Amino acid sequence: MKIGVLTGGGDAPGLNAVIRAIVKCAVTEYGSEILGVFNGFGGLLAPPQVRPLSLEDVRGLISRGGTILGTTTRTNPFSIDGKDRSKEVLESYRWLGLDALIVIGGDGSLTIAHRMAEKGIKVVGVPKTIDNDIEGTDVTFGYNTAVTTATDAIDKLQTTAESHHRVMFLEVMGRNAGWIALAAGIAGGADVILIPELPYRVERIVDKIKQRRIEGREYTIVVVAEGAFEEGGRPSYIDDDLPKNPQDRRLAGAAETAARKVGEATGLDWRVSVLGHLQRGGIPTPHDRILATRFGASAVRACHENHFNVMVAIHANRISYVPLETVIGVVRKVSPSSELVWTARSLGISFGVDATKLGSADEGIEA
Ligand code: F6P
Repeated sequence: MKIGVLTGGGDAPGLNAVIRAIVKCAVTEYGSEILGVFNGFGGLLAPPQVRPLSLEDVRGLISRGGTILGTTTRTNPFSIDGKDRSKEVLESYRWLGLDALIVIGGDGSLTIAHRMAEKGIKVVGVPKTIDNDIEGTDVTFGYNTAVTTATDAIDKLQTTAESHHRVMFLEVMGRNAGWIALAAGIAGGADVILIPELPYRVERIVDKIKQRRIEGREYTIVVVAEGAFEEGGRPSYIDDDLPKNPQDRRLAGAAETAARKVGEATGLDWRVSVLGHLQRGGIPTPHDRILATRFGASAVRACHENHFNVMVAIHANRISYVPLETVIGVVRKVSPSSELVWTARSLGISFGVDATKLGSADEGIEA
């Protein structure tokens, strides 16, 4: 087979490991050919930007962050400067003699992939995002590395927070879902975790800080997902005036907003750190390298076993193929009644909300 591969949307640690696995598995196991497509779907507009990928091209890639194919968060062939150019993508696919196209991307790229499948392209998706919010899979690659980076930051904030008796706020990524904040908050021993799924109340954060001080701990660590917001409010965007699609808008200031209000209410000294794109860079953790490798090899296998218009997924540590139409357009959110949230609050971590908002914690533990 001749299989194209592209990476779309924001990058995530492990993208290169997927590309490497695709090339190695295609060549070694199936004797197939891989064509790398540059800069997401933009590389299939006329004239196509492509290059065959050999075993030599992917040597040493397992540990390298970023993507050798380049990526873009803005190119949707169905709407480029108001024009539908998806026909060009289909024509390039045919002209290049491709038998299949592997799309490594988040919800935006997978949605485009599904629409291209309806036009006749044989696509297989590989779920990618550090936010871990893609429906249909237990986990995405890149998430574990981002959580590791965020946990390391909390570990560092713990000591300086304690020295200065401060309230330290750490803003982490998580646009629509608070997976990174939740996992890193638990792993780093945070005191408060604010996530988009649970709009917070400043008084509840203040309660937690006061309670800690009564117990003799004069510092507090608050982890804030970038999409978190106050009850009755809305997320903080950098470009507040622009009436754009919320998914295209840049979030900024969630931690600063919460910190100012907590500072005003308590009179305590506070500081904010924003991790930003540090979470998307660097070398992938062994967990992400292995997951990326499994996803890449399974995507090649899907092509050879004629499974198309699907996304490679993992459930309870087993790889499966799920129809793209069942995963696109859905955000996999943190459930307030999940075992993970229950575990956090059972240890005294505050979510900045009234206890009634946390549900009955009846999901996730099998009796
Ligand atoms: O990959 C998802 C994400 O990390 C979001 O959490 C964040 O809002 C977004 O990417 C930022 O992307 P960029 O700055 O590259 O547009």
